[in-house]
Amino acid sequence: MSTIVTIAGSPSVNSSTDALLSYVSRRITGAGHTVLPVVIRDLPAQALLSADVNDSAIAEAVEAVDAADAVVVVSPVYKAAYSGLLKVFLDLLPQRAFRGKAVLPLVTGGSPAHVLAVDYALRPVLTSLGADHVGQGWFVLSSHIRVYPDGGVLIDPASAGPVAEVTENFLAALARHSPVQLPPGPRRVSPVAGDPDLSVLYVEPGDPELAPLLDDLSVEYTTRYGRVSAYTQLTEVPVTDFLPPDGAFLVLTENGETVAGGAIRRYDDATAEVKRVWTSSRHRRRGLGRRLMAELERAALDLGYRRIHLTTGPRQPEATKLYLASGYQARFDVTADPETIGPLAFAKELVPGAGLADWEQPEREPETVGAGR
Ligand SMILES: Cc1cc2nc3c(=O)[nH]c(=O)nc-3n(C[C@H](O)[C@H](O)[C@H](O)COP(=O)(O)O)c2cc1C
Repeated sequence: MSTIVTIAGSPSVNSSTDALLSYVSRRITGAGHTVLPVVIRDLPAQALLSADVNDSAIAEAVEAVDAADAVVVVSPVYKAAYSGLLKVFLDLLPQRAFRGKAVLPLVTGGSPAHVLAVDYALRPVLTSLGADHVGQGWFVLSSHIRVYPDGGVLIDPASAGPVAEVTENFLAALARHSPVQLPPGPRRVSPVAGDPDLSVLYVEPGDPELAPLLDDLSVEYTTRYGRVSAYTQLTEVPVTDFLPPDGAFLVLTENGETVAGGAIRRYDDATAEVKRVWTSSRHRRRGLGRRLMAELERAALDLGYRRIHLTTGPRQPEATKLYLASGYQARFDVTADPETIGPLAFAKELVPGAGLADWEQPEREPETVGAGR
């Protein structure tokens, strides 16, 4: 069973948000997990405001977050966003404090006009803290929360159903994440043929070498598709899909810098799906995209796959060019306007030992970011 830290961001002593959290916490403990509450307003104000992580209460809260398997973050909507109190606490956490964890965001508010605060305001911050999986959150109207003198909480059925559902989904995601809690295996590093400065590093979700890739993809997807598009979702695939024995996440590093990366996961018994293909904006037009694709194909062969399937978005023409240049067959009408198609699918049959010669003399293809979503 898992330990789940709850971070309560309401400054109110008689808090609707806390009542919602107690309702959710009961469901979580009922499923056999341990809940460790962090109530931010109970932390010493001076230490909180000066981000004094040496203060014993602050240190204890930070350690609880670090040791937790998952986190529930709750806040009232204040001025169309989450509370400043919550932000003060999140700001003193380490940059990747939520790495390897599933996170459930919940907010309460007085007006349905701010129902999107959970996705527009809170979610990006949780993602930036390295959360592996930020599940669907929920906004609950404060008028839907009733607290009885004995501490009992009644949630209006209009909100209780969705809250129960997102909590169940969160617990299911937590169960899928449990392999991440195993001790990490040895990290595989191998040189790239023909380029002594480049290495291929097999990483795990949450490793710091992945941070530039994930941060940049998040910005790129949002820039190209807007915040609420399906194309912007980096959390729709459980990160455990990218772990052996069915998957792999690898990056190309150059003198310690992550310059490119991508992942594979199981599509079917014989087919791997490529995801998260990325090249650093400072290292494009060097052929790194094709090197990366060759490495991903080798990784797929090593895992026993015989073909690759992938999709990219309609607003990533450079990704389409990379895949065509790398020998992938387009599974759509390449003459049609990509916006009228949606996700663009590609496939390639893998031949053991073939294609790797591409590494020796990579062509200067238009390098890409955000491909193989
Ligand atoms: C300073 C302040 C600002 C608020 N701003 C908003 C807002 O912008 N949008 C909204 O829907 N509710 C707003 N509310 C209402 C609260 O979000 C709502 O009552 C919430 O459930 C309070 O939670 P609490 O009892 O934990 O404090 C605001 C309340 C306060 C006190």
